[in-house]
Amino acid sequence: MAKRPNIIFRYRYEPRSRLNYRNPIFLVLVFLASFGLIFHLFPTSDDTAIPNYSDSDDEDDNIGDEEGQTSHGEMAGSDGNELVPSGDMMVRSEDSKISYDILGDPSPNGNGQEPYSSRRLPQCLIIGVRKGGTRALLEFLNLHPTVQKASDEVHFFDDDEKYRLGLEWYRSQMPFSLPDQITIEKSPAYFVTDSAPHRIHAMNSSIKLILIVRDPVTRLISDYAQLAENKARRNDGQKMVSFEQTVLTADGSVNIYYKPVRTSIYSIYFTRWAQIFPSQQIHLVDGDRLVYDPFPEVQRVEKFLNLAPYIDRDNFVYNSTKGFYCVKFNGTLEKCLNESKGRPHPDVDIKVIRTLRSFYSPYNHRFYKMTGTDFAWPEI
Ligand code: A3P
Repeated sequence: MAKRPNIIFRYRYEPRSRLNYRNPIFLVLVFLASFGLIFHLFPTSDDTAIPNYSDSDDEDDNIGDEEGQTSHGEMAGSDGNELVPSGDMMVRSEDSKISYDILGDPSPNGNGQEPYSSRRLPQCLIIGVRKGGTRALLEFLNLHPTVQKASDEVHFFDDDEKYRLGLEWYRSQMPFSLPDQITIEKSPAYFVTDSAPHRIHAMNSSIKLILIVRDPVTRLISDYAQLAENKARRNDGQKMVSFEQTVLTADGSVNIYYKPVRTSIYSIYFTRWAQIFPSQQIHLVDGDRLVYDPFPEVQRVEKFLNLAPYIDRDNFVYNSTKGFYCVKFNGTLEKCLNESKGRPHPDVDIKVIRTLRSFYSPYNHRFYKMTGTDFAWPEI
């Protein structure tokens, strides 16, 4: 079944005026067109230096530096992490759903009987956790014809400035959907933001929430790797302080002032969500399993969202170049997440790994108890 169109396009027919070659407007247009062509053929050195990915500080979440401060000024625009053809990881996806000019909110035949497409508030949120596999999960779910994803992280509930813009603004950030479709937005910063659970509950007390978690130590290393890469890019290749020096204090204890260390203490943050939402509304995804066998995890989410079974094991193909599962569309076209997902991790001294594992162990057990799920993350 092909994805149902969520946008209906209208053509505006305007009769062409006759060209008058002496018309000053025509001459200005010719000038601008030739200028654009020259610029295209001979780009400035700065242009050639711009990397072929989103220049937002952080491609998918918005922790701006190693202290974990958000850099909201850099949130705008696509996060650059949609699926890309597997042969060329650096090419941004050409999502036909967003590449057209959307002229309105049309009903197919205007008689009010057909379902029509409009922007709807999300009925489901992927609330985190940062570096848990949130983008992969969203893209996998988006294979389902009943799902419409918000391509960008909106950060409505964790950013006070955006929250002040109101629900209508938030709705305007959503994709077009049909009445029987589910809109899903993901912003992993929601999970660790104090105000997010209350705000989300105030919008919709029966909303469905998805939390994807993975081994806290691996998540921490992944977070560090992303921040280090971003910092190196900003500082012209200057290296960040080593992982060991960042996560441990001078006396060898775990540095809880480093925000990525705290983000992996899932039980602390989860408590707030569990106090506000009933457990049936929160679904947990195992991010480690999503890496090595995505299908069962995605199938469980389909059930949680009461979606008709649609996504199939055949939709996932392991790509040995990428080292991850990619998705197959229409039986042939294979697309993977871009290179900001699945980046190499630094080699970490096993002693440091052990220190971190024993630090997280009691929190992990609390989390297993709260959620009723034993993730069996390594302890030594
Ligand atoms: P690494 O880049 O450290 O490997 P998020 O989207 O929440 O930022 O999570 C990023 C993580 O998603 C990646 O962390 C990667 O391990 C994981 N992931 C899970 N499935 C993936 C897939 N099919 N392709 C790429 N990354 C995937």
